[in-house]
Amino acid sequence: MTSLLSPLALGPLELPHRIVMAPMTRSRSAQPGNIPWALNAEYYAQRASAALIVTEATQVTPRGQGYSFTPGIHSAAQIEGWRLVTDAVHAAGGRIFAQLWHVGRMSHADFHGGQAPVAPSALESGARIWMSVDGVGTMVPTSPPRALTIDEIHEIVADYRRAAAAAVAAGFDGVEIHGANGYLIDQFLRTTSNHRTDAYGGDIPARIRFAVEVAAAVADEIGGERVGLRVSPQIKARNMDCPEIDDAVLALARELDRLELAYMHLAEADWDDAPEIPELFRIRLRAAFGGRIIVAGGYTAARAEAILDAGYADLVAFGRPFVANPDFPQRVAREIPLAPLDPASLYGGDAAGYTDYPAATVVAATAHREDH
Ligand SMILES: Cc1cc2nc3c(=O)[nH]c(=O)nc-3n(C[C@H](O)[C@H](O)[C@H](O)COP(=O)(O)O)c2cc1C
Repeated sequence: MTSLLSPLALGPLELPHRIVMAPMTRSRSAQPGNIPWALNAEYYAQRASAALIVTEATQVTPRGQGYSFTPGIHSAAQIEGWRLVTDAVHAAGGRIFAQLWHVGRMSHADFHGGQAPVAPSALESGARIWMSVDGVGTMVPTSPPRALTIDEIHEIVADYRRAAAAAVAAGFDGVEIHGANGYLIDQFLRTTSNHRTDAYGGDIPARIRFAVEVAAAVADEIGGERVGLRVSPQIKARNMDCPEIDDAVLALARELDRLELAYMHLAEADWDDAPEIPELFRIRLRAAFGGRIIVAGGYTAARAEAILDAGYADLVAFGRPFVANPDFPQRVAREIPLAPLDPASLYGGDAAGYTDYPAATVVAATAHREDH
């Protein structure tokens, strides 16, 4: 048995192997209200053989939305909808964490009744978000943001706390705080997006303060052993090229270690811009944080084995392979070739390109029985 297929404890969970399903936005919640529903439950249940599923990013408050049709976890209907998802995944034998999200400046005024998106500072992302205009999805530039007041920052910390409680009420096994990819928490971490001169901006302890407060509130609410946090220091798109980000993330890792979080999740690639992660960074991250480390970004089974062998990760998350291969862990175990995904149906739409990718296990299981 290879190490990728060996079991591992993650907090109170016993994971049967090391193949995690990475968080992936698919923009298929029911409308109006951004509510998870039966179609989403079917999609996640099909992928329940992952060691752990991390859901698509899920806004903790309406102000935290930046893409069309992404689910929330702030209304009673959303919590009920997520219950369908968690029940379906658990019935299929899986484990599932909700990814908690606030996009900050990665948003458009149309999501907020014409008001500006909020951010650490009034600095633009220069990026685009996916928005459905008249039912057709297009990429549109983000709107100029305004800076949050201190009181509003405290309110958002409370939003994360409430969302964590809601996640547990909805039956999730835990939550992953989305601190990666240029969204609100990442915006606080970086000199490029955070020009504040109060307690939440300036030196590294100030720039990590928001992330630490969110993690502390969430851990206090549901227990650190059920909480992970995702970062992406080497991803620099969206006006996020901060020269101090590695040190900021390592300082954050030391704080998360004190909070005894279950894991840190290192997102190494956003699509195909996968910079080489310096080995020294991996060594320093291990030294700073004693919990589990998940890595993600362009991994194959072979690369995953190599990073586990090197000791720099405990789990490997796969994103795109899970889109078209709902039984991806089985395909790894049995070396079954992977099906390609259809890029046109990633965001928005219906069951097509979402729940209609077949599992190969039916065929493989038949062959296996015939072998014996
Ligand atoms: C369609 C799609 C949606 C994604 N949405 C999210 C998301 O909601 N949250 C997140 O942290 N990362 C998101 N990612 C990044 C993935 O989690 C992952 O890091 C990335 O796809 C690289 O891994 P891969 O090469 O195995 O696909 C998304 C990626 C894809 C392809």
